[in-house]
Amino acid sequence: MNTSYITINEAAVDDSKIEAAGTLLKEGRLVAFPTETVYGLGANALDEEAAAKIYSAKGRPSDNPLIVHIADWDALGLIVKEIPPQARLLADRFWPGPLTMIFQKNERVPYGTTGGLETVAVRMPSNRIAQKLIRAGGGYIAAPSANTSGRPSPTQASHVLDDLDGKIDMIIDGGPVSIGLESTIVDLSEGVPTILRPGYITKEMLEEVLGHVEVDQAIIRSDSDIVPKAPGMKYKHYAPKADLVIVEGKSSMVVAKINELVQMKQAHGLRAGVICTEESFPSYEGGVVRTVGSRQDEESIAKHLFAVLREFDDLEVDCIYSESFEAPGLGQAIMNRLLKAAAHQVVKIDHKGVSKLNRIIFVSNSGTISGPMAEGLTKEKLKGKEIDVISRGLVVLFPEPINQKAEAVMISNGIRMDGYRSAQLTKEDLGDACLILTRTEKQKKTVLEAYPEQKQVYTLCEFTGEEDTPNPYGGELADYGRCFEQIERMVDRMIERLSMERSI
Ligand code: TXA
Ligand code: MG
Repeated sequence: MNTSYITINEAAVDDSKIEAAGTLLKEGRLVAFPTETVYGLGANALDEEAAAKIYSAKGRPSDNPLIVHIADWDALGLIVKEIPPQARLLADRFWPGPLTMIFQKNERVPYGTTGGLETVAVRMPSNRIAQKLIRAGGGYIAAPSANTSGRPSPTQASHVLDDLDGKIDMIIDGGPVSIGLESTIVDLSEGVPTILRPGYITKEMLEEVLGHVEVDQAIIRSDSDIVPKAPGMKYKHYAPKADLVIVEGKSSMVVAKINELVQMKQAHGLRAGVICTEESFPSYEGGVVRTVGSRQDEESIAKHLFAVLREFDDLEVDCIYSESFEAPGLGQAIMNRLLKAAAHQVVKIDHKGVSKLNRIIFVSNSGTISGPMAEGLTKEKLKGKEIDVISRGLVVLFPEPINQKAEAVMISNGIRMDGYRSAQLTKEDLGDACLILTRTEKQKKTVLEAYPEQKQVYTLCEFTGEEDTPNPYGGELADYGRCFEQIERMVDRMIERLSMERSI
């Protein structure tokens, strides 16, 4: 498909260009356009086939509903069952603007637009190009962010071109957006108004109008067990190609830590990127350093974050370290996007500049094979370090010694586990400075369900980037040998990572 690219000036909108774009939308085609938040990929929201094209152009999962964009208040009543009084209050204050509200849909809105849901998300953007286009396109434009699914949202037309050239009918370049983060989503359909996605309109701003407002727990907590109410929030969004780690703590300590991490990566022949602020920029000594904005002006950070993440994709760095941002106000939306991009990898630094662990716990089912193997190996390799290493099981009915074949393999490698007895993981084992490594995803889930406040819970594979090893139980001695070798590789990677992060 040939994607036509046109430029429109928001301050002096050329109506003939808008008409042409509107005609495409009425014909069921796709047009990307600027809004004040991010660029949207528009299609007629009331035409199921047109909406379906959005999903294929973006590679978006079909259960992730679209936001319907309107330009006039009266349009709302025609697509929803009812308008709660609170919605009217919010609209009076924040529409047109970066706020999306969830309503019960009526039969005019196809399920293809709402991902099968009975509710519909509606927003009235303030960007004048968007408003005119919506009217010209029939009044109801479904528009997700105009990026390929999984990439940072586009904040300028060139980002859209990078992702969607040849896949959509038209791109309207209206210059860089003014906000840079997607709209705040509020659900008013069930009791207390709840923020499903933080954005430019903050909790405090909403509370000024509505009184108490809640925040969907799923967007605050790092574990993936709670299903977010906005389906799109469950996907790994905004993911840069390189591994992104956020470093959190006192500013000067963060700079020192990032400098050190960058240096270590470079010593391994790797390219490291740094996301920082204007204030700290001069203090960085190496790596590919980019500022997102000024700490004095959070809006500047919101505006540039996605573009910087995209830039790092082009720069082909191996890893990125980012400073962390304050959470109140707009910072909450910034950190929400950044944490997602980092898949919640955060290095926390204490007042001395060190984020030290005091315990590593290996968790397996019975605590008789891989757990004690990992425990024994780690103790051996960390001899002399002040760190406690234990292994625990999730289904230990009574204490058992290490499996005989596992023990034989350990002894032949010079590690003795005399007197070892398996034990069930309990609350007493845990603490803040404790790293929990499980063998399987399922075990990780079980641990997080039982101890949701526990921050550092990973599978061994996830933490080390190594392949898992088959459970040797019931197999030959050689199977146990292979398991031991793989666990040793994982333990080596783990120690490498922990020493790099200065956690041990
Ligand atoms: O600022 C924005 O909102 C931008 C611009 C283009 O308007 N649009 C945008 O759309 O960010 P998108 O598709 O990238 O994100 C829409 C989010 C998803 O997380 C989706 O799951 C959620 O809105 N959503 C849509 N309809 C919903 C519904 N009925 N109930 C709950 N969440 C819904
Ligand atoms: Mg999006």
